[in-house]
Amino acid sequence: MKRITVQTLKEMKATRQKITMLTAYDYTFAKILDEAGVDILLVGDSLGNVILGYENTLPVTVEDIMHHTKAVARGARHAMVVADMPFMSYQVSDEKAMENAGAIMKFSGANAVKLEGGKRIAGLVKKMTDAGIPVMGHLGLTPQSVHQFGGYSLQAKEAGEAKTLLEESLALEEAGAFAIVLEKIPAELAELVTAGLSIPTIGIGAGPSCDGQVLVTQDMLGMFDKFVPKFVKQYTNLKATIDDAVKSFIKEVRVDAFPASEHSYHMDKETLDRFMAELDKGLEEIR
Ligand code: KIV
Repeated sequence: MKRITVQTLKEMKATRQKITMLTAYDYTFAKILDEAGVDILLVGDSLGNVILGYENTLPVTVEDIMHHTKAVARGARHAMVVADMPFMSYQVSDEKAMENAGAIMKFSGANAVKLEGGKRIAGLVKKMTDAGIPVMGHLGLTPQSVHQFGGYSLQAKEAGEAKTLLEESLALEEAGAFAIVLEKIPAELAELVTAGLSIPTIGIGAGPSCDGQVLVTQDMLGMFDKFVPKFVKQYTNLKATIDDAVKSFIKEVRVDAFPASEHSYHMDKETLDRFMAELDKGLEEIR
């Protein structure tokens, strides 16, 4: 199967084929999601919440992202691997941002990076794309600005904010971004943005008109129930399945039902007799 590229995604938008993106943070999940046919694997800084147990995404470092991206890249044959640039890895200076993005691309196997922001980062997006680094934008609810927003509420609900978001999306497209994530904005605005851009939009809590959809894998599999936003659909309840399996394991170990004979390695009679005789001889020598 051929690798999904920036070009593939452009063609998918042109031919109205919906794009699918899920987060992945390790080899096992990356391989399962890739083999199931998902188009993009996002090593999101949501790994701060989902994998590392932080309250928000702010503590995630470039090293964290690179460590997890390396594992995901080893599991992905077909999907494009996009690595999130974490908080403060691209805000201090363009030079530092280029160094960090370069390291992520060079050493972790990512095919692209994702940055939060619009006009503020457009110049940097241009520098990155000029240097051959594909950039995915992220507008609307940008979790790295949680303290500025004062929470995770719906964004761009007022006409003025909606107009700004439209302008921001055009600035990202002009700067060379190959796609834009639209998070937690009204569906009607996402439809307008999607129609106004030649690059794909990928929605999360942004309604059905986006060119693609993204979810955090642990959310859609029902593994992460600390907080379930309205936009999450739980396609299964893996937490309950895992809970059942683990409880069965504990019970079986306690009553000696596991491991059973089929899970154990046995010696044939001849090997066992020889083994016992040699053991006896060894014991005699010790005595
Ligand atoms: O970090 C992440 O997982 C994300 C997605 C929710 C788009 O940015």
